[in-house]
Amino acid sequence: MGDNVILVGFMGAGKSSVGRLLARRLGRCFVETDDMITVQEGRSIPEIFAQRGEAHFRALEEEAMRLLALKSGDVIATGGGLPCRDGRPQALRALGTVVWLRGDFDAVYERARRAGERPMLAGRAREEIEALYHAREPYYRQADLAIDTTGITLDQVVSKLLLALHDRVSLSP
Ligand code: S3P
Repeated sequence: MGDNVILVGFMGAGKSSVGRLLARRLGRCFVETDDMITVQEGRSIPEIFAQRGEAHFRALEEEAMRLLALKSGDVIATGGGLPCRDGRPQALRALGTVVWLRGDFDAVYERARRAGERPMLAGRAREEIEALYHAREPYYRQADLAIDTTGITLDQVVSKLLLALHDRVSLSP
C-alpha cells in the first residue's frame, strides 16, 4: 500500500481546506486532483465542463488517477466525483490511507453552494443534489477512515484526523 493520505467526500466536505492544513501539520506536500486537471488542460473546471462536457472531465480524472500512482507521502484531495466509479475506491486505497470527510447533507450543501463555482451544482435542484449525495455514499464509505465534520471547526477536523491516522499507524502490525 502507498503512503499517501487521500481525502474523499462530497463537494463542500472541506477536502481542500482540511488537506492543506493537514499537509502543513504533517510537513507533507498537498496535491489536488482538480488542480492536476486544470494545469494539464490549461483551463478551469467550469470551462472544461462548459466546453467539453462532464464525460471529458471524467476521462481527465481517469488520467489523473494514473498520475497519482507516482505520488508518495503526499496529502491528496480528490474531486467529489472521482472515487465514485466501480473499482475506484480500491484503486485509491492502493495509494494510501483513504479518509472520508463526511457531514450532514445540509451543512455540506450550503458550503458547496457558497464557495467556488461548481458545475455539478449549476441548474440542479437541491433534491437532485441530495440524491447524488446519497448515490455517492456507498463509494465514500469504502474509505479506510471516516471523519464526521458536522458542527466542528477546521482545526478540530484536522486534530481528529491526525489522531485517527496516528491510531491507525500504531495498530498496524
Ligand atoms: C465534482 C466536484 C468538484 C470537481 C468537479 C466535479 C463532482 O470538486 O471535481 O466540479 O462531481 O462532485 P470538489 O469536490 O472539490 O468540489
